[in-house]
Amino acid sequence: MARRRMIYEGKAKILYEGPEPGTIVQYFKDDTTAFDATKKEVIEGKGVLNNRLSEHFMTGLNGIGIPTHFIKRLNMREQLVYAVEIIPLEVVIRNVAAGSMSKRLGVEEGTPLPRPIIEYYYKDDALHDPIVSEEHIFAFQWASPQELDEIIQLSMRVNDFLSGVMHGIGVKLVDFKIEFGRRFDNDFSRIVLADEISPDSCRLWDVETGRKLDKDVFRRDLGSLTDAYTELATRLGVMPRKSSTGTGPKLVK
Ligand code: TMP
Ligand code: ASP
Repeated sequence: MARRRMIYEGKAKILYEGPEPGTIVQYFKDDTTAFDATKKEVIEGKGVLNNRLSEHFMTGLNGIGIPTHFIKRLNMREQLVYAVEIIPLEVVIRNVAAGSMSKRLGVEEGTPLPRPIIEYYYKDDALHDPIVSEEHIFAFQWASPQELDEIIQLSMRVNDFLSGVMHGIGVKLVDFKIEFGRRFDNDFSRIVLADEISPDSCRLWDVETGRKLDKDVFRRDLGSLTDAYTELATRLGVMPRKSSTGTGPKLVK
């Protein structure tokens, strides 16, 4: 059987040419990285969990009329998505001070913010994804003012949706990162949510205990990442309580 063509390999996912023009197969790897991939592990089963979790969130968002690239999950590790032209921005929405914002501004982690704060980072590993302002985005034409308006509106809706979903399972949505793309339809393009939504790109704290159910478990060596992601998936009703492999996390290299 002919091998399908790989389009792109990132740190956590691989993109393959899809079965129809304008479609892509997105494959979730077990590779786990932090701090510009200076910290790196293969955590068995992480890709399977993120594929399921991202499907769950994207399906919910599609259901409330937020356009996303997601079409359907194909198997344990792959989903079919629309091909988009990625806007080179990491859009971060914060509800509670944490991470780089706490460091940069000297605000204690866990301090609630009076309103959601949106930040933009220019996607460039060699530059370590620097924070940028709207001025940079327009001057370098990464997105037009109309596109950024759309991105802000959609980001706030995603925040409301995800905050509500998490609230319902006793989890606080502290912050998260999303990416957008342009989906072309003849001469028109429209902004759609792309990439993934998973605990790799969110901060999620248990409301009662403060336990972290996100990639900070890996970044800060706080225990088993798969246990944390499985706990989240179980609460959401996405996965049964015991994983089918039952082996837990394994350091492969
Ligand atoms: P930060 O506090 O490190 O800037 O992260 C903000 C949010 O963005 C947090 O939920 C983790 C997520 N994130 C990514 O998804 N990818 C990244 O490369 C970084 C630095 C953060
Ligand atoms: N994804 C980024 C990296 O590999 C950083 C992070 O999520 O902390 O390095």
